[in-house]
Amino acid sequence: MAIVGKDILRAKEFLDISEVIAIPTETVYGLAGNCLDTKAITRIFEAKQRPYFDPLIAHFSSISQVKKFVREFPESAEKLAKKFWPGPLTLILKKKDIIPDLVTSGLDTVAVRVPNHPLTLKLLKTVKYPLAAPSANPFGYVSPTEAFHVQAQLGEQIDYILDGGSCQVGIESTIISFNNRDIVINRLGGVSLEEVEKVVGKVKINAFSNSKPMAPGMLSNHYAPLTKIVIGDIEKLAKENEGMNYGILSFQKMYIKGDSRQYVLSEDGDVNEAAANLFSALRKLDNLELDVIIAELVPEYGLGRAINDRLTRAAAKRD
Ligand code: TXA
Ligand code: MG
Repeated sequence: MAIVGKDILRAKEFLDISEVIAIPTETVYGLAGNCLDTKAITRIFEAKQRPYFDPLIAHFSSISQVKKFVREFPESAEKLAKKFWPGPLTLILKKKDIIPDLVTSGLDTVAVRVPNHPLTLKLLKTVKYPLAAPSANPFGYVSPTEAFHVQAQLGEQIDYILDGGSCQVGIESTIISFNNRDIVINRLGGVSLEEVEKVVGKVKINAFSNSKPMAPGMLSNHYAPLTKIVIGDIEKLAKENEGMNYGILSFQKMYIKGDSRQYVLSEDGDVNEAAANLFSALRKLDNLELDVIIAELVPEYGLGRAINDRLTRAAAKRD
């Protein structure tokens, strides 16, 4: 079992000796290690059972810190960083040699972000290096949004969980890359498409695929609970699954009064609230030993797009 606490200096002590710890961010909990220390990076990949070809995000305390580690900072990247950092936005930029190839899986770019969580920002200012951190879940599973989610799955692998409470945004960061003049969203996330386009104009969205993923996080069956999920009209699916032990994940409406096997993401129909509740609800449903989870998509605007992206991936068929 990992120790769960709020002690920044204790967290630093572990990081200074190449250990990995869990850190809170506004999106999801991360599994963090010294980004410049290959021993720590190896431990991250091992703890998560993450394939080495899937690169990590480097976390920094400020935009000026980021600039010390990248070769280029395109104008549009700068605009986005100024608007959304600290916050749920990751930029893919050309890396300097000081970032180990292990972090970037040999790519000449590095994913960078300044997270918006008071404890982690304090930690990032206290340590003398950026923190490499993927989401703190076993590879392919739903990301954790509570310290106890991390404890349940990775508590045996790590020594310390910095407890920052529930993640406020609840869905991973939006990842953006820059190819010549194109601005491309590689992963929909905590900053909405509409917000991004307000700052830099029209962008491209790189749809996920299972056959030719640009990055493994784009595999269509990523972010999945263990229980099978089907998406569609809930009443119709409920009929089709009659006799099965099914759970319900709905946006706003309670379908079966008093049934504990259903979760409503936002009674007020608020997509931000729904995002904050999504992974927690999926985990709770996954723990009920159901035959199937039936779920509906949410409205396709704001963070609703990122929610639908994760639900669709969770429902993608696995072999
Ligand atoms: O909100 C978040 O982004 C969380 C918190 C902890 O910061 N982190 C997170 O990390 O979701 P992870 O490792 O689960 O997802 C990072 C994604 C992966 O899909 C990876 O393939 C992609 O970022 N990525 C990392 N470096 C990349 C690069 N140089 N080029 C393209 N994609 C990259
Ligand atoms: Mg992840």
